[in-house]
Amino acid sequence: MEVVILPDADAVGAHAADLVTAAIRRSPGAVIGLATGSSPLPTYRRLIERCGAGAVSFASCHAVTLDEYVGLPPGHPESYRSVIRRELVDHIDLPSDHLHCPDPHADDVEAACVAYDDLLVELGVDLQILGIGGDGHLAFNEPGSSLGSRTRIKTLTEDTRVANARFFDHPDEVPRHVITQGLGTIRGAGHLVLVAAGESKAAPIAAAVEGPLTASCPASIIQLHRRATVVVDELAAARLARAGYYRETFRHKPAWQRP
Ligand code: GLP
Repeated sequence: MEVVILPDADAVGAHAADLVTAAIRRSPGAVIGLATGSSPLPTYRRLIERCGAGAVSFASCHAVTLDEYVGLPPGHPESYRSVIRRELVDHIDLPSDHLHCPDPHADDVEAACVAYDDLLVELGVDLQILGIGGDGHLAFNEPGSSLGSRTRIKTLTEDTRVANARFFDHPDEVPRHVITQGLGTIRGAGHLVLVAAGESKAAPIAAAVEGPLTASCPASIIQLHRRATVVVDELAAARLARAGYYRETFRHKPAWQRP
């Protein structure tokens, strides 16, 4: 695992955008996994700028999302399909039929979860952007999720519902159920890029990067991945015991390994 510590959230976004851009330059038809939440927003702002400037094109790419609420009406502004369109997809040249999201409105939602998981395997996700929850959750895999889980319906913890209430008019509007890629599904991506910034992420980042591999911290599955990059700002890195080593490693990274 590579841990990159940068001064602030904007630098985190720029570095993650470099990694996405490099993946698309290597493979113009790359499949990019997108995450919702506030953590990836600086990355998306950079990608929109670069696409507008002609420095990167998503025209041949596919994009897949990690998770979705169950129970919101179609087109609800806080559904993750709407959010990812508003924050990124509507502002880049990704063809609209190249955006793939879990379907919470299917007649058979469980079958739709299996179909989505099969699609992810068929497409093959090249790079997956990830955020991390305050309790170490990854996508909507709450603590206790099976490390081998596949895309399925989950029940949100009260902590996550409270954390996400800021996006809704009333806390009761936050759905209780979601569809989420499983931890096993997420591990199938070729490159995991976990972004985090701010003091509230210091504990979950330390647990995910340096704590035990455990279902109690779903994000700790990044330790099992052959290619994981954790991009954090100074505040989110504050509880990493080996921060000095990560800084040295990054400082001396050979030029040919940089995006
Ligand atoms: C939600 C999303 C996660 C995200 C997390 C943290 O629960 N399902 O994918 O990582 O929120 O969000 P934020 O980046 O806003 O802190």
